[in-house]
Amino acid sequence: MSILADLTARDVAERLQLARADYAAFRSRGLKLDMTRGKPSPEQLDLCDGMLTLPGNRDYHSDSGDDVRNYGGLQGLAEIRQLFSSVVDAPAEQVVVGENSSLAIMHDCIVWALLKGVPGSVTPWSRAGDIAFICPAPGYDRHFALCEEFGIRMLPVAMTDDGPDMAAVEALTADPAVKGMWCVPKYSNPTGAVYSDAVVRRLAAMRTGAPDFRLFWDNAYSVHHLTDRRPALADILELCAEAGHPDRPFIFASTSKITLAGSGLAFFAASPDNVRWYLARVGKRTIGPDKPNQLRHIRFLRDAEGLARHMDAHRRLLAPKFDAVLAALDTRLGDLGIARWSRPEGGYFISVDAMDGTARRVVELAEGLGIRLTPAGATWPGGKDPSDRTLRLAPSFPSLNEVRTASDGIALSILVAALEKLGASAETR
Ligand SMILES: Cc1ncc(COP(=O)(O)O)c(C=O)c1O
Repeated sequence: MSILADLTARDVAERLQLARADYAAFRSRGLKLDMTRGKPSPEQLDLCDGMLTLPGNRDYHSDSGDDVRNYGGLQGLAEIRQLFSSVVDAPAEQVVVGENSSLAIMHDCIVWALLKGVPGSVTPWSRAGDIAFICPAPGYDRHFALCEEFGIRMLPVAMTDDGPDMAAVEALTADPAVKGMWCVPKYSNPTGAVYSDAVVRRLAAMRTGAPDFRLFWDNAYSVHHLTDRRPALADILELCAEAGHPDRPFIFASTSKITLAGSGLAFFAASPDNVRWYLARVGKRTIGPDKPNQLRHIRFLRDAEGLARHMDAHRRLLAPKFDAVLAALDTRLGDLGIARWSRPEGGYFISVDAMDGTARRVVELAEGLGIRLTPAGATWPGGKDPSDRTLRLAPSFPSLNEVRTASDGIALSILVAALEKLGASAETR
């Protein structure tokens, strides 16, 4: 319950007047700041400068002796699959290296499932009538956009600190129309939650009405730590196999936020049957991936230690920005009880629950201060946040000073919106 909610109408009006004065002063600074998308900053991209001159020395051969400049090598270089095997939690033989975007691989998997079906399908998904995906919410807007694009019904399920509400998930998967579920299991977008072992076990073991049900396991932030605590995620492939559902997970990841966003490497990993299915489809679409990019990645990152050192360099740039957001929220709102926010230990986002019914107003107020935020509702299927309270903050791209200023302005906007709401409800009491 809000501490502000206990105030008299007069106290609320007084506080609102003060907050509005702060707001007017802030507004007069004429700022222009953007906290919308989780893009790496220029300084993060600079960390990869050395990669852009590789492979170098006119040495274009992979460990197996193949000339990477030529066609072929559909599954990707063995040395890259080996290096990223621990990132996607799958044996190297079950990893495929794609092009630059894991979202593109997810898109292809959905299209191929619709047109051809997946291992275990009785019929392609497009001929199965109405189909649906479970969508933990708040979640990643581009996952939901894929469902919308292909007419897949979305079933929102609440996210908790341990992952999705599993009782709700298990109740929904009994329906054969439910063909899939979106999961960002580690440092989830946007709450930063890491799925607990118990949740991963239940996802692996649950009964599904559809024999060809798939977990779309988007492990986008597997090595993107912000603290020394590095929680391990339970092994979804192994647990699904143990539970008798080896084909259940499709695993996705990429180096978009490791090396270069837009010019990195994307990965698909799954059971041997799923990998055969995937390669058969992808082999029709391309004669082979961009292997010089794979070679320069391996020459730049080298090995697991090299990758860990590189991620530490990202952390040194990112962690102070996350701290700045949390400090601003704590300072302005910490003891008021009108908002809650996540304290992620990795990933790219902080999720704030403002007072119910105020998120859209907060975005509008922040815009008035020159601060762009992800549209309210974007983290919910169909853009509809039933409580109008979730805000997604993305502090990676602006400079540290800009993040400090923007976060203060956002906290102030959350306060003004809450006081307006409380003032309005006091008037109607
Ligand atoms: C959960 C999640 N998956 C996928 C992506 C995009 O990945 P890629 O650049 O590999 O397409 C993002 C980008 O923000 C993301 O947050």
